[in-house]
Amino acid sequence: MRQPLVAGNWKMNGTRQSVAELLAGLKSGVGQVTTAEMAVCAPAIFIPMTEEALTGSAISWGGQDVSVHESGAYTGEISGGMLKDFGCKYAIIGHSERRTYHGESDELVAEKFEAALNAGLVPIFCVGETLEEREQGVTEAVVARQVDAVINRGGVEMLGKGVIAYEPVWAIGTGKTASPEQAQEVHAFIRSRVAGHSQAVADGIQILYGGSMNPGNAAQLLAKADIDGGLIGGASLKAADFLAIGIAANA
Ligand code: PGA
Repeated sequence: MRQPLVAGNWKMNGTRQSVAELLAGLKSGVGQVTTAEMAVCAPAIFIPMTEEALTGSAISWGGQDVSVHESGAYTGEISGGMLKDFGCKYAIIGHSERRTYHGESDELVAEKFEAALNAGLVPIFCVGETLEEREQGVTEAVVARQVDAVINRGGVEMLGKGVIAYEPVWAIGTGKTASPEQAQEVHAFIRSRVAGHSQAVADGIQILYGGSMNPGNAAQLLAKADIDGGLIGGASLKAADFLAIGIAANA
């Protein structure tokens, strides 16, 4: 049985004050979430205050990216070891915004996956097709290529130490959610792709859905057999909405 994971991706949002309020709201309401693990991936500068607020609570936290390097002359980068030092459990890897705006290739994403693991973090590894790719009918080919890059680098056992997030790019931040059927179809494809290498890893790996998931559509998405939680952007910035998604996983 795979435990649902509901992870927030705050992206580049928040102020000292709004983050403090959000963390307080999450802490006071998380008791209503009975089944899912809740986690928040904060901008790096807010990780120390996130650690301070959430230590001892049921909520985990993480970063939004990780350097491939352990330390050294890499201005602006944050290493996995630094995230770990501030109590992070997770690091988002290969988010479509990093792939698009920072030119991250499948190979670089796979290298980051390994770097996160080596630092003792659990990678939340994002895959997903653009609208153009979906319309061309190459969704499965794109997602397969992205997943295979990690398997090619470290084998299916390495992939199995992370979490996969299927995030159709056309659904991210657009209010256009994939239908539960559309999402389930790709989740099942990803699981079967992994099963081609190892049935045990395929059975155990959590595959989250991401892309305009909100309190109104979460229950239907989470009810699907191969959807094991969510990676939540916009709706993770409001404690009540984020908690409502966690509560939707109770059933
Ligand atoms: P969204 O973002 O929920 O705002 O669509 C999801 C994500 O990018 O992880």
